Amino acid sequence: MKLFVDTGDVEEVRQAAEWGILDGVTTNPTLIAKSGKGFKETVLKICELVPGGAISAEVVATDYDAMLKEALEIHSWHPQIVVKVPLIEPGVRLVKTLSGKGIRTNVTLVFSVSQALLAAKAGATFISNFVGRVDDISDDGMVAVADSVAMVHAYDFKSEILVASVRHPLHVVQAVQAGAHISTMPFKIMQMLFKHPLTDSGLQRFLKDWNDAGLSIF
Ligand code: E4P
Repeated sequence: MKLFVDTGDVEEVRQAAEWGILDGVTTNPTLIAKSGKGFKETVLKICELVPGGAISAEVVATDYDAMLKEALEIHSWHPQIVVKVPLIEPGVRLVKTLSGKGIRTNVTLVFSVSQALLAAKAGATFISNFVGRVDDISDDGMVAVADSVAMVHAYDFKSEILVASVRHPLHVVQAVQAGAHISTMPFKIMQMLFKHPLTDSGLQRFLKDWNDAGLSIF
């Protein structure tokens, strides 16, 4: 499964990229606004920090012509950019147009398998199925993920299911169990994936025993 970090903070991207396990970055208008920096400048910096990674940058218009103009502009900035498009009627039409031109897309704000079906039929590269926002309203966001993964396999769609709106490491575990292609998560959740109390206590014991014995590698 590919791991993306969900952030507009270039310092977080830099740190996650240093671990060598980062496959891409997702941004959204809220995250870019939070970064306090310009959109193009931020996205280009992120592309530089994650060579070869898929970097999602979102259109903000909601009518087809304006969305297409924005999509072509964003796409022109860097070959690693994936154009992020909301799952609305002109958005699905836009994804069809862009996929016809070989431009990669990430369809966002997807919450159901029926929405995922539309995105897949339009030729979406990634389908961002949000889980946390569904859990927040007392439903199980992961159900649509599992159904969408089954759907792309059953019908041989080329789209990859991207688990978004991840709130905690258990969502990542459930994404693996569902066979999702990608998980995107805030930097702090990615840091939490490293954590296990037995790793910490085990390492402490190894180092104590090593030092008590007066050993050295060199
Ligand atoms: C996905 O690409 C979105 O940017 C993101 O995962 C949304 O997460 P949130 O529900 O925590 O805002």
